[in-house]
Amino acid sequence: MNKRLGIQIGLAFLLVGFGQTGTSGKEVDLKARGQTLMEEKGCLNCHYVQGDGGFIAPPLNGISKYRSEADILKMLTGPRPAKKVSESYPSPEELMSHVRLDEADAKVVAAYLIGLPADESFEMKGHDNEWKDIFPQGSQFKPHKVSKSSREGRKLFYKKGCIACHSTEGRGGRIGPSLNGIGATRSKAFIEQRINSGAVIMKSGAAYQPTSYSMPPSSLPKKDVKRLSEYLLTLPSLPTE
Ligand code: HEC
Ligand code: HEC
Repeated sequence: MNKRLGIQIGLAFLLVGFGQTGTSGKEVDLKARGQTLMEEKGCLNCHYVQGDGGFIAPPLNGISKYRSEADILKMLTGPRPAKKVSESYPSPEELMSHVRLDEADAKVVAAYLIGLPADESFEMKGHDNEWKDIFPQGSQFKPHKVSKSSREGRKLFYKKGCIACHSTEGRGGRIGPSLNGIGATRSKAFIEQRINSGAVIMKSGAAYQPTSYSMPPSSLPKKDVKRLSEYLLTLPSLPTE
C-alpha cells in the first residue's frame, strides 16, 4: 500500500469514528456555552459546579434531582423582590437579590444545569435534624472566662475570614447569624460540628427548600476549631440583638 492511500484510509476511519461518538455537536456546544456563561456571569463565585466554584450558595451538580428546568428559568429571569426592610434577620433576596439573566442566556444556562450529574464527592444533607441542640442553657448561660486559647480563637476568627459573614462584639458581616451569646443556644459540641462540617443544604432525596445561605465547611485543624469555639463561648449576648 502506498503511503498516501494509507493516510487516506486512516482519515476515512477517523471520520467514521467521529460520526459515531455518543455526544452530538449540539450537546457539546450547549455544555461549552453553559460553562462559559457560568464563568462570565460570575456564577462560580458563589456556586460550585463540576469541580470548580464557591460555597456561598448551594452546589448545582445534580440539581435535576430537585428542580425542573422551568424552576431554574423562573429563578434566573423572574421579577426582583419588592424592597422592604425587615425587622428580623433579612432573607437572602433582601440581603442580596439573586443575579438575573436575559431570556436567551437563561435558557442556555438552565439546559446546561439540568444536565449536570450529581457529585459523588459530597453528600447533600441538612444537619439540622442531627442536632437538637436548641437552648441548652438558655438564660442560665454565663459567658466563659477569656483564656489563652480563646484569645487565639479570636485571632483565628479574623484570620480565617469568619468575620466576613458573622458578627461578634458588634463588628462583622451579616451573611451568617451574629454569634454573640451563642453559648445560650448552642453547646460546644454543636459549635465545633458546625465549624467542621459547614452546612450542606439538603437531605438526599428530599425536596430542597431554599431558606438561607449556607456555611462553607472549614478545613481547620482540630485545635483551631477548639480555640474558635472557646472564643465564641466567651461572648455575651448584646442587648440590641
Ligand atoms: C453572590 C452569590 C451568587 C451568585 C453570583 C449567583 N448565585 Fe445562584 N444562588 C445564590 C444563593 C445564595 C442561592 C440560594 C438562594 C436561596 O436559598 O434562597 C442561589 C440559588 C441558585 C439556584 C437555585 C438553586 C436551588 O437549589 O434551587 C440556581 C439555579 C442558581 N442560583 C443559579 C445561578 C446562576 C446561573 C448564576 C450566574 C448567572 C448564579 N446563580 C449566580 C447565590 C449566588
Ligand atoms: C460565607 C459565609 C460564612 C463564613 C465565611 C463562615 N460562616 Fe459560619 N455560618 C454561615 C451561615 C450562613 C450560617 C447559618 C447557617 C448554618 O448554620 O449553616 C453559619 C453558621 C455558623 C454557626 C452556627 C450558628 C448557630 O447558632 O447555629 C457557627 C458556630 C459558625 N457559623 C461559625 C463560623 C466560624 C467559626 C467561621 C470561620 C471559621 C465561619 N462560621 C465562617 C456563614 C458563614
